[in-house]
Amino acid sequence: VRTAEDIRTTAWRIPEVRDLEVVVLYSLALGLERGRAEDRIADQETASVAMGIAAALEGQVRATHLVPVWDDLPVVVGQFDPRRHVIFNLVESLGGRAFTEPEPPRIFESMGFIYTGTDYKSITRSANKLTTKKLLESAGLPTPRCQVFRQPEVRRVGIRLPALVKPIAEGGSFGVSQDSLATDERQLAERVRRCLEIYRQTALAEEYIIGREINVALWGNHNPTVLPISEIVFEWTDDPLRQFVTFESKWVCDSVEFTGTPGICPAPLTSAERTKIEEVAIEAYQALGFRGFARVDMRLRDGIPYVLEVNANPDLAPDAGFFRSASVAGFSYSAMVQHILQLALEAHYA
Ligand SMILES: Nc1ncnc2c1ncn2[C@@H]1O[C@H](COP(=O)(O)OP(=O)(O)O)[C@@H](O)[C@H]1O
Ligand SMILES: [Mg+2]
Repeated sequence: VRTAEDIRTTAWRIPEVRDLEVVVLYSLALGLERGRAEDRIADQETASVAMGIAAALEGQVRATHLVPVWDDLPVVVGQFDPRRHVIFNLVESLGGRAFTEPEPPRIFESMGFIYTGTDYKSITRSANKLTTKKLLESAGLPTPRCQVFRQPEVRRVGIRLPALVKPIAEGGSFGVSQDSLATDERQLAERVRRCLEIYRQTALAEEYIIGREINVALWGNHNPTVLPISEIVFEWTDDPLRQFVTFESKWVCDSVEFTGTPGICPAPLTSAERTKIEEVAIEAYQALGFRGFARVDMRLRDGIPYVLEVNANPDLAPDAGFFRSASVAGFSYSAMVQHILQLALEAHYA
């Protein structure tokens, strides 16, 4: 059996996943400095995903360590040895603070660790929806027109209503509810004010795309592979102005919106639609400089997939979109988790 030290020094050969000691590192959800109390539901799920991943690796790798982190990441990680341990990164925030998701990969890198998922630069780019949209636009990719508001004084220029108002740098549909759509100026001002107040960050108002909701899971380092495409269908309402993914529909299991918005994979698409969606997803992934894995959220209207955002380290829960797609491609949960580790090794040794 090769030791981890051998693995490190024989850079000419990528180590095998089964030889790894994996630290499954995840963020605790002790509190948030912003947002609504309910938002913690989503953060608490990270712990159960971490347990599921550690269980899936049982017997497949040399050892696993399940390690929570709150605000002391360098200390926690400092107990491990970059020559022996590879990090499975499930750290979504530090100390419950906003905009901290890019920090962990930067710390791992500075300490010399191999870690799963994408690097800090691409997390930084994708964590801010406006930065993402600018990069998408420069790459010639379709994304809805938008306007940002940093103050409650709202003068609409350049976007048409209805518009969907969301915090500029959250994920998981935080701050997106059935009240997020603005169909007139008064509502727009009210949605913006609420976003600034509750989320303490810039409000992004985007032209609302009436269309289908498409999720594309991708993985790979330079030339990503697109997994089978998913669609979220809105069975609970026929009103196109209500057919979008709110916080309730994602996280509140006993709500009408949650039970009435199943994910379908593979999505019924024409081959022209599929080709276009795959092409845009790959270009979006590359425009943001991703490695590892990601999920691209889109709205499809008249054959054009408008990219809403690219999610770094998307939810790996067994009932979330990424595994839905991987399983349709024939991966068991354990095989998916091992492939993500394999990509981390390849990114490091390439
Ligand atoms: N411009 C838009 N047009 C239509 N629906 C939108 C738009 N922006 C957001 N949504 C809806 O809100 C959901 C959450 O928005 P998204 O940008 O993906 O943020 P999050 O990071 O919270 O997932 C989307 O999945 C979609 O259903
Ligand atoms: Mg999204």
